[in-house]
Amino acid sequence: MPKQPVGRILVVDDELSLMGALRDTLRDEGYRVTGVTSGARALAALGEEKFDLVLTDLVMPGQDGISLVEEALRIDPHLVAIIMTGHGSIPTAVEAMQAGAIDYVLKPIRLNALIPALERALTVRRLREKNAELESRVSERTAELEAANRELEAFSSSVSHDLRTPLRTITGFAELLLAREAAALPPEARRRVELIHAGADEMARLINGLLDFSRMGKKALEPGPVDVGALCREVFAGLGGEHAGRRVELRVGDLPSAVGDPFLLRQVMVNLVSNAIKFTRPRNRAVIEVGVAAVRDEPGPVYFVRDNGVGFEMRDAEKLFGVFQRLHSTSEFEGTGVGLATVRRIVERHGGRIWAQSSRDAGATFYFTLSPGPRP
Ligand SMILES: Nc1ncnc2c1ncn2[C@@H]1O[C@H](COP(=O)(O)OP(=O)(O)OP(=O)(O)O)[C@@H](O)[C@H]1O
Ligand SMILES: [Mg+2]
Repeated sequence: MPKQPVGRILVVDDELSLMGALRDTLRDEGYRVTGVTSGARALAALGEEKFDLVLTDLVMPGQDGISLVEEALRIDPHLVAIIMTGHGSIPTAVEAMQAGAIDYVLKPIRLNALIPALERALTVRRLREKNAELESRVSERTAELEAANRELEAFSSSVSHDLRTPLRTITGFAELLLAREAAALPPEARRRVELIHAGADEMARLINGLLDFSRMGKKALEPGPVDVGALCREVFAGLGGEHAGRRVELRVGDLPSAVGDPFLLRQVMVNLVSNAIKFTRPRNRAVIEVGVAAVRDEPGPVYFVRDNGVGFEMRDAEKLFGVFQRLHSTSEFEGTGVGLATVRRIVERHGGRIWAQSSRDAGATFYFTLSPGPRP
């Protein structure tokens, strides 16, 4: 174990001889000790120097031990205090502990009772300080991360906006060429202009995807109760056009309702269900199942959306959630690759997580949680 720093102790007792004896004994035990004979002097010492522990008499003329402890904790909230008291005043010692003292020792003081009490209190002091240090480090890191996120947000949104204008010029002139000068263009040139037009279209789709993604990150959360099952059926009905002419069955289990932002949770469902519809396209009978799974150590419900579609290799399971990451070619399955990135972002803003399970040609399951409760 690393050696602990020497405890700095302030001894307070109005009886000079007792204070002196205690101070010297504790110094012999290896502590750094200062001794004073009144509450007022103790507060003055606390203002000038840093102490870990105050060991104070309970009954003193002028300021008593209780009010000294209260004021000392106002000076340094992580300080620990031990009250010394006679047998008769144990109820008062309890009162002192309610005022913030951590322990009490009975007079006459016995060293073999005092030292363990001091060590316990000093351990509490070290833990309090460590805790405060960790908390401040966490909030520093959180602030840094939030600033970096905001910057990234501003960057992607302004880049997306700025890219749209020159893109419109490209699309506009390509359209003009095709509409007005088509006859004058040799067939090969015409084909090239068409390719330019298609490329610009594709880029516009990507930019819109990025903009959507960044909007989902910025929108303030407005949490409320959400009936996940009903949401799911509505979304499926709304996506009817995407599976017209195919047999796609939706099975919704008994789902607990959730607390979350209804608009954002709808985007989650739209993306997961439309993926399930899209990637079951080669199936004669597509089945999409929505339910809750039992997952060990998970405090809240784990929702899932499962399909019997083309699936993917598990080694790619993390990639899917990145922006513009796609595992299937656009010629086979259209899309821009921002859907799941958006979903992950929304789920994480709700304090949850998302993961996927699949194997090639054996369907895919997307699990997500929303606990432990949305962040504002
Ligand atoms: N249900 C699924 N079954 C098999 N693969 C999937 C499924 N859902 C997503 N994927 C894979 O993950 C990739 C990323 O999905 P995501 O929803 O982000 O993009 P997309 O559907 O291709 O495009 P977008 O949602 O932006 O229109 C998909 O291209 C596909 O390869
Ligand atoms: Mg998608």
